[in-house]
Amino acid sequence: MRFSSERLIFRQTGIKDYHAIKSVLGNEEVMRYTTLDCIKEDARMRKIFRAALAHRNGKLKWYLYMIFEKESMDFVGVGDIELEEFSGKPEIAEIGYLLLPQFWGKGYATEAAGMMLEISFQRFGVRKTNARCNAMNIQSEKIMRKCGMKKEGVIRCGRFKNGQWYDELCYGILREEWR
Ligand SMILES: CC(C)(COP(=O)(O)OP(=O)(O)OC[C@H]1O[C@@H](n2cnc3c(N)ncnc32)[C@H](O)[C@@H]1OP(=O)(O)O)[C@@H](O)C(=O)NCCC(=O)NCCS
Repeated sequence: MRFSSERLIFRQTGIKDYHAIKSVLGNEEVMRYTTLDCIKEDARMRKIFRAALAHRNGKLKWYLYMIFEKESMDFVGVGDIELEEFSGKPEIAEIGYLLLPQFWGKGYATEAAGMMLEISFQRFGVRKTNARCNAMNIQSEKIMRKCGMKKEGVIRCGRFKNGQWYDELCYGILREEWR
């Protein structure tokens, strides 16, 4: 399935996308603040790739989208949506966005996050969408705000990354607040 925003194209991950995904999840700069650690081992990368193809991350449904620049068709990064179901129906989503450094500072992440919200609410029909970031990740927090998400709290020392504990910021938006 394909989706399109002003400057970007989104499609679900396919069997040929392994190396593109590895270029994102294996990039130290991209993974500096993410919950997931930078993936260096092939076995671990393959496990995550299989989960992406199966649309499942543990107990949760998980959709990983490849993002391309419309103009050049260059691979820009990935966006993802995790779905929490109640009585078999998706009710709460959590979105994420990871772009390759050469595409930062163009407003693409805000556009991609907007599309993850649109897919969550329109395609999956959830009642709420959340996003979280490391408190040091100022740019990511800005994106959540720009997308209309509200700050709901801080999980103090909620994240362990590279030998240090960091606060985690929680943002969310309800279906009726979106658009
Ligand atoms: C965090 C991350 C997604 C931010 O990406 P980004 O490209 O810098 O963010 P945006 O797409 O919103 O772009 C922001 C800047 O682009 C600029 N910009 C340039 N052209 C623009 C346009 N046409 N529209 C909007 N903004 C534009 C804006 O001025 C904006 O700067 P500002 O936020 O200071 O106002 C990116 O750095 C990244 O992928 N990091 C690694 C992974 C990560 O940490 N992900 C988040 C995990 S929670």
